[in-house]
Amino acid sequence: MSLPQRIEEQPLLDPYDLGAGLRLRNRVVMAPMTRARARNAALAPTELHTEYYRQRAGAGLIVSEGTWISPQAIGAVNVPGLYSQEQIRAWSAVTSAVHAEGGAIFAQLAHTGAASHPDFQHGRLPVAPSAVNPGGKVFTPNGLTDTITPRALSTRQIADVVEQYRSAAVNARLAGFDGVELHAQRGYLIAQFLNPALNLRTDAYGGSAEGRARFLFEVLDAVVGVWGPHRVGVKFAPHQALGESDEVSPEVLAVHEYVAGRLDDHSPAYLHLMMTRRPNVRVTEAQRLDSLKLFRPLYRGPLIANAGLDQESGNTIVREGLADLVSFAALFISNPDLPRRFERRLPLAESDRDTFYQGGADGYTDYPSVMT
Ligand SMILES: Cc1cc2nc3c(=O)[nH]c(=O)nc-3n(C[C@H](O)[C@H](O)[C@H](O)COP(=O)(O)O)c2cc1C
Repeated sequence: MSLPQRIEEQPLLDPYDLGAGLRLRNRVVMAPMTRARARNAALAPTELHTEYYRQRAGAGLIVSEGTWISPQAIGAVNVPGLYSQEQIRAWSAVTSAVHAEGGAIFAQLAHTGAASHPDFQHGRLPVAPSAVNPGGKVFTPNGLTDTITPRALSTRQIADVVEQYRSAAVNARLAGFDGVELHAQRGYLIAQFLNPALNLRTDAYGGSAEGRARFLFEVLDAVVGVWGPHRVGVKFAPHQALGESDEVSPEVLAVHEYVAGRLDDHSPAYLHLMMTRRPNVRVTEAQRLDSLKLFRPLYRGPLIANAGLDQESGNTIVREGLADLVSFAALFISNPDLPRRFERRLPLAESDRDTFYQGGADGYTDYPSVMT
């Protein structure tokens, strides 16, 4: 009976009650990852997606790749959506496969806003809080190109976008997901509203931290209206800087503190905290503590720590009560059975960056699991 002792040593492997009847079998979360494998006109998941997620169902919770809430939300190639019947049907196969393995899966709802491009919008300008070019790059069907100056949403059009989120949340239920997560980072639409450099609005959706956070909370309330309490998570990255800069604006940090402080009032499932601005950058011990110490006291509900973590740091974070769950992205690409490898303290495989966003089955479903 060596197994129970090992589990005891590793709080990451303890079950966790997320609330609303959802008990996770461990605290190892698979972080959302865009893998750009939906190479079909319908932007629907394929059998390859079903197999990919099934392989990773040993996670306590899977958060799906960011998935488009509407055609207007699209801003990258070969990424699936959750706005058509065909997509709902295809996602149902994914969720069934995960459930058949005893896993749980949330859909990550995404809208790229200004990070989209007219190439995705039949030549129309993408929507944004304000007409400010975010100054990034975007992969369109015509290749890598610069972002352009988007069009500012009117107040009425903001209500339309909130409705797109609500409708995608309904679709996520129809597709059999266990909940949804709002993508509120990486320069996508919700993060654009939070950022004073991109949100110059003078109406109720701009100005103060409260104004810039209004859109996020309206979306959250609409989606919680569909799902009920404790089934809607929020992933944000307070330390994310704009463009190539490494400077984190104090105003951006402040609005995230504001959001965290008020999140509890909206009955979310969890706050998913990305502690650095770039995927796969190792978080230093100091950064980790700063971030968790800042946000943990602000938000009393379940907290998922993310970015640059491994088995040891993940266990330490949970043991010390700095977070309740820990998410891993890159490690889940090359180690589909990550919790089992943690449990047995097996070596971890390296993932191949060249196949992160392309390659069909290569680098997607062909990483082996260890033998049972
Ligand atoms: C290939 C890849 C795709 C990603 N796509 C998304 C995404 O769709 N939505 C999201 O919120 N984060 C996305 N991320 C960020 C991850 O969820 C995570 O925050 C980041 O990789 C840090 O975690 P890690 O150090 O364990 O890899 C992506 C990361 C990778 C490596």
